[in-house]
Amino acid sequence: MTARTAIAATSAALAPACLAAALWLAATAPAPAPVAAQEGAGNPARGRIVYEANCVHCHRKDGAGGVKVTATAPPARSFATARFWRGRSDSQLHRAIAVGFPKSGMVAWKDLLKPQQIRDVVAYLRVAFQPR
Ligand code: HEC
Repeated sequence: MTARTAIAATSAALAPACLAAALWLAATAPAPAPVAAQEGAGNPARGRIVYEANCVHCHRKDGAGGVKVTATAPPARSFATARFWRGRSDSQLHRAIAVGFPKSGMVAWKDLLKPQQIRDVVAYLRVAFQPR
């Protein structure tokens, strides 16, 4: 028996055991709450890439915002204050990014980003800018 066929034979023998373990875990693990599934499910490292490609020209690299799209539009929000983070959950941020602020010049990012990319960018905002 070559090494490769030995590995194939071993994994074939292990597969049913893995499946049984997975089914057992699925049956015993408590179902996660829908919000919990969204909170914290983002990857900040990938979110940084999304942020730097799409958000920095209004919210700036340091998250301080302030850029106005037109003279009368409200400035892009600063993420660098404790006030911003008070009372904003990840799912609220997700929703705000998804629907955007069309009147203020921020597009509905759900048309351009995947839901996972929005979760990633939310995770990045929190890690990079929330004052500690
Ligand atoms: C063209 C400029 C522009 C770009 C690009 C932009 N934003 Fe904004 N953003 C704004 C403005 C302006 C506001 C404030 C809207 C208001 O107050 O009416 C805002 C507000 C926000 C808020 C505040 C929501 C809240 O709860 O108050 C978040 C979060 C946000 N943006 C995230 C992002 C992310 C993430 C990106 C990149 C994917 C992005 N923005 C790209 C202009 C922009």
